[in-house]
Amino acid sequence: PVPVIIDCDTGIDDALALLLAVRHPGLDLRAVTCVAGNTDVDGVVRNTLTVLEQAGAPEIPVARGAERPLIEAVRTARHVHGHDGMGDLGLPAPARTPADVDAVALLRREILASPRPVTLIPTAPATNIALLLRTHPEVTSNIERIVFMGGAVATGNATPVAEFNVWHDPEAAAILLSAGVPITMYGLDVFQRVIVPGPDVRRLRASAEPGTRLAGELLAHRGPATDETDPGGGLGDAGAVCAVADPEGLTTHRLPVEVSLAPGPARGQTIVDRRARPGESELHEGTREQPLVDVALEVDVARYVKLYLAAVER
Ligand code: BDR
Ligand code: CA
Repeated sequence: PVPVIIDCDTGIDDALALLLAVRHPGLDLRAVTCVAGNTDVDGVVRNTLTVLEQAGAPEIPVARGAERPLIEAVRTARHVHGHDGMGDLGLPAPARTPADVDAVALLRREILASPRPVTLIPTAPATNIALLLRTHPEVTSNIERIVFMGGAVATGNATPVAEFNVWHDPEAAAILLSAGVPITMYGLDVFQRVIVPGPDVRRLRASAEPGTRLAGELLAHRGPATDETDPGGGLGDAGAVCAVADPEGLTTHRLPVEVSLAPGPARGQTIVDRRARPGESELHEGTREQPLVDVALEVDVARYVKLYLAAVER
């Protein structure tokens, strides 16, 4: 299996991502680190520990990370994820507490200890990842790839042009993009498309197995409806985990990506340069060098839904 570490802000769809990473036979979830985003970091830690317990994986190390972005103040998304940050489903409090090391220390330890290079899956603002890269740059020697949920080629969600994770900590996202390792951007363009149909969500909810049932509850809470009569639920962040388990389901193009850092209405936008590649077009003359990122442009929705259900109902 592929060794993976998830950095998250659990978060309804982060929880869906954790459930998949725990249950997919092709993935070896080695640690989970928490950061402020959808809710405050202590809420994220609690939610993450609870999800891992419900998933039957209470042994996976979990660490508490950054309480706030590098520069911005915390701006949670409780309007989307509920007061507790995870849909207010009335889940039990976790039985354990997080690791006694912080997220950056746990990331460093687990990345360097892995016998095979690790794939990092950030599904949250990139604060922990940026702090890691600046504090322990040597970790990149044992990172296979970073597959991050964030950014948008087309339309944003936090603002007309900015996606929430990048908008919440734009400087951190810029540091992540310049990590110098292969990077896949699983942005809103694909993120919003992978929806589990209503009948499947109902079946998951009716399951007697706690982890499977939780996936159903979370999906039902998430919506959204393309078909109002039978809404289903979006996989959200879990799609980034699908992209690691089954990269063939994603169509990516290697393109320059720049995070807009200037104050104002474009702050947090990921500017993806879809013009012809340098050398192929004079359009690029004088263009500043930007990191090249494998940007997801298309996704095989049916394939990822099938992958998700097969793993979570296993
Ligand atoms: C991202 O923002 C969060 O609310 C979700 O968990 C996801 O990671 C989508 O913009
Ligand atoms: Ca998230």
